[in-house]
Amino acid sequence: MSLKNNVLHILELNKGANISGQELADMLFVSRTAVWKAINSLKQEGYIINATSNKGYSLSFSSDVISSEGINLFLNDEYKNIPITVYKSLASTNTEAKIEAMNNAVHGTVIISEEQTKGRGRFGREFFSPSESGIYMSIILKPNLNIADSVLITTAAAVAVCNSIDKFTDEKPQIKWVNDIYIKNKKVCGILTEAVTDFESGGVESVIVGIGLNVKTKEEEFPTELQNIAESIFHADDKFCIRNQLAAEIINNVLSICEKLEDKKFLEIYKERSMILGEYILYNKNNEWLEGFALDIDEYGGLIIINKYGQKEALHSGEVSIKKAK
Ligand code: BTN
Repeated sequence: MSLKNNVLHILELNKGANISGQELADMLFVSRTAVWKAINSLKQEGYIINATSNKGYSLSFSSDVISSEGINLFLNDEYKNIPITVYKSLASTNTEAKIEAMNNAVHGTVIISEEQTKGRGRFGREFFSPSESGIYMSIILKPNLNIADSVLITTAAAVAVCNSIDKFTDEKPQIKWVNDIYIKNKKVCGILTEAVTDFESGGVESVIVGIGLNVKTKEEEFPTELQNIAESIFHADDKFCIRNQLAAEIINNVLSICEKLEDKKFLEIYKERSMILGEYILYNKNNEWLEGFALDIDEYGGLIIINKYGQKEALHSGEVSIKKAK
């Protein structure tokens, strides 16, 4: 680790508290001038570091730069060694993660970016990913599962993200099948799961779980067409600057839920959080919108509906919306 990263690690560990230049220098076996240079380059990268002449340096509570050091602090012990790469800007973390997965990235590798210029959503849609206001990250999983169980990763990831949001807000996030997360009927998070298959065996070699969470994007910052349908989990006035902690919580939850995927216990939580079960819905099938009743979620994460002919049907992919009363 570079000196700058070591200084950052200590400041993140003591966020809000003062540490003198001499203390930092002693801890890291370097000169005070070297510490001063490291602090300056961190400030240039956007970290808010207060310097007081007789107290030293402190990382401000309002500093909210995503860093691997900042995330690592909040990871469970068993995940402390996962590789985390943070970018200022990327086209898409999922695209980068796919490249890494094909280059033998290890299970749990995380790619995260402060902004995406071509963030991808499901059905070829764009995912709005403005700088420094969300969490846009991809987790590479090497699940060693058959294809049917790999599909469950999508469902499990939605539960993992909801559980993580729960830790920081009083809102009760809900899931719109398959894996969009809503608070008060507005979307706060989308998840794009992509598989990298082994060309020879045809099996799933890696699964990329791409998570886009609107953390503090203000209403007026969303494009007009999203303003009525998208939302952030925190609002400007909340002054929450904990994206590293939140990202770590999501990583902890995704990795641990995926370790127990086969027991399928998370499906119960998924159902409790569902915003469509028990509702009349519109679902898209063969490019046609049809009416149905959302009855249940099956053991593969499929949506069981009752169609307009009164027959039960299982949907395994696609899109739904709640049918509004006329
Ligand atoms: C959707 O809403 O349809 C899914 C959106 C998924 C967005 C995330 S952001 C991180 C990762 N990188 C991408 O390009 N997409 C996913």
